[in-house]
Amino acid sequence: MSSSPSVMDQLRLDGRSALVTGGAQGLGRAISVALAEAGADLVVLDRLPESSPEASALRTELEARGATLRYRQVDLVSLTSSQAEELIAWAEGDEGDLSVLVNNAGIVDRGPAVETSESDWRRVIDLDLTVPFLLSQAFARRLMPENRPGNVINLGSINSFQGGIEVASYAAAKHGLLGLTKALANEWTATGITVNAIAPGYMRTQFTQAHRADPERYATMSARIPAERWGEPTDIAGAAVFLASRASAYVTGTTLTVDGGWLGR
Ligand SMILES: NC(=O)c1ccc[n+]([C@@H]2O[C@H](COP(=O)([O-])OP(=O)(O)OC[C@H]3O[C@@H](n4cnc5c(N)ncnc54)[C@H](O)[C@@H]3O)[C@@H](O)[C@H]2O)c1
Repeated sequence: MSSSPSVMDQLRLDGRSALVTGGAQGLGRAISVALAEAGADLVVLDRLPESSPEASALRTELEARGATLRYRQVDLVSLTSSQAEELIAWAEGDEGDLSVLVNNAGIVDRGPAVETSESDWRRVIDLDLTVPFLLSQAFARRLMPENRPGNVINLGSINSFQGGIEVASYAAAKHGLLGLTKALANEWTATGITVNAIAPGYMRTQFTQAHRADPERYATMSARIPAERWGEPTDIAGAAVFLASRASAYVTGTTLTVDGGWLGR
């Protein structure tokens, strides 16, 4: 009599390979380490050089967990469709076992909308929305003909639901990313590729350094979080492993908020 794998076995990622964009630091790094702890090998694309302290530290952390890392320095802004195809082909390597894509790299441009330049607007929309589309498309084009299952995870934000303050391009891109998540899930889930998003709240990374440097703003924001603390990068780990794993096989087109309760308030 055959029994289905236990949920703990379903959460394992042994023998699988995951591509994380912007994995050298912050949330991408925490996600990479978490996926490695679950058994995956990692491929990371980041604008930081491979010789940077961040990339070196990532390699040490992953290898300590028995995972391999293939790292490539690339600035993803203005990525073309053919460059996306080439990056996914490179990420596959000789093994051809890439099955997780985490679209994590993102930037924010803060300032009044009336002062936002066209080039700054386009840069944010490009990296935070167009790049996830192009990489997801290239990923699916590779997996689908071979009937290979996969998981796409997009990094949304609480600004996928709220307009925020003086972050027009970011809110627009992150709202769009949720729409993209649903649309791709509708098209791809039956082929075995699930598409989901994680929406972090206020997490302690370089990305939010400016908020924390402003004591008044930091205190106001902190007081509004039901968890009564900011998120640590490792708070994202469980959500990432779950959405990359077979334990989430019937979860698709949805967004898992990891925000200490912010959006429910
Ligand atoms: N930190 C938060 O509070 C928070 C909240 C909500 C959503 N997010 C989202 O989570 C994701 C990661 O955020 P984070 O806090 O870890 O940011 P971070 O700035 O700390 O790290 C971003 C990583 O992406 C890389 N990167 C940036 N631009 C790149 C480019 N053009 N090409 C390649 N790599 C590039 C950076 O080198 C870095 O390693 C982003 O999509 C962000 O919008 C973060």
